[in-house]
Amino acid sequence: MTTPAPLLTLNDGRSMPALGYGTYPITGDEGVAVFGRAIEDGYRMLDSAASYGNETEVGAAVRESSVPRSELFVTTKLRGESHGRDETLKAFEGSLTRLGLDYVDLYLIHWPLPRLDRYVDTWRAFVELREEGLVRSVGVSNFMPEHVDRLVDETGVVPAVNQVEMHPYFPQPAQRAYDAGRGIVTQAWSPLGRKSDLLGNETLDDVAYEVGVTPGQAVLRWHVQHGSVPLPKSEDPTRMAQNLDVFSFSLSEEQMGRLDGIATGERVGGHPLEHEEF
Ligand code: A2P
Repeated sequence: MTTPAPLLTLNDGRSMPALGYGTYPITGDEGVAVFGRAIEDGYRMLDSAASYGNETEVGAAVRESSVPRSELFVTTKLRGESHGRDETLKAFEGSLTRLGLDYVDLYLIHWPLPRLDRYVDTWRAFVELREEGLVRSVGVSNFMPEHVDRLVDETGVVPAVNQVEMHPYFPQPAQRAYDAGRGIVTQAWSPLGRKSDLLGNETLDDVAYEVGVTPGQAVLRWHVQHGSVPLPKSEDPTRMAQNLDVFSFSLSEEQMGRLDGIATGERVGGHPLEHEEF
């Protein structure tokens, strides 16, 4: 087993692991087995979502694990069709039932869906769920500064986390600076730049070789040193273990700079202003 990731303190006083396991798109019996192995490997945070269709599997792995529930951190997300106060409360009940848990550590609004314009009401319901103790921390995903500003202006409640696409090709410096200014922890989805050629990049390969780690580990360490919380997905036992093992080495400032220099500005996923997922 790899030593679990260190804990970060969120702006609501709660703790969250500095790296988590990305569960998309793993489902079914294989999912329960893989998520169970992730926990055995030392992962303590599992990142799920209603739209991934794997809350049942994540919950089963958590309940079957010998690691106490209090040491595990379960995230799930509200899908687009459930925006709105009453819809959110109902959708959350469904998520909790599928997970088979008493509470969720972190609940995120999956996408802002600005055309629908219901994310502020949705956020009010999130705050109610937190007050009831059913959700420990509340946050958002794919929110741009203008969306977070509205939540804070209209409700006074700052998200604890903002989970956005981030990897060396799309490093999100402005979004990260904004989040940090609000005390929001940025989590990174597709931290390894899924579907791009990132892991075959020559500069990355050089840096990884110098440090004596794999390209995947160098990228995940780049996230950690930028203060973002990566959520790598892997079903391969060797890569799963390697991806968590990024807290016992570091990149120099010069190596960080070289990785910052490979940015292309190209996303691998949807744009928050346009992406609609119901
Ligand atoms: P696999 O499950 O076979 O390991 P992202 O987290 O950015 O979405 O990327 C996930 C993709 O990257 C998956 O296809 C996964 O495949 C692969 N992957 C995960 N970890 C590594 C790694 N350390 N090195 C190379 N590929 C990886």
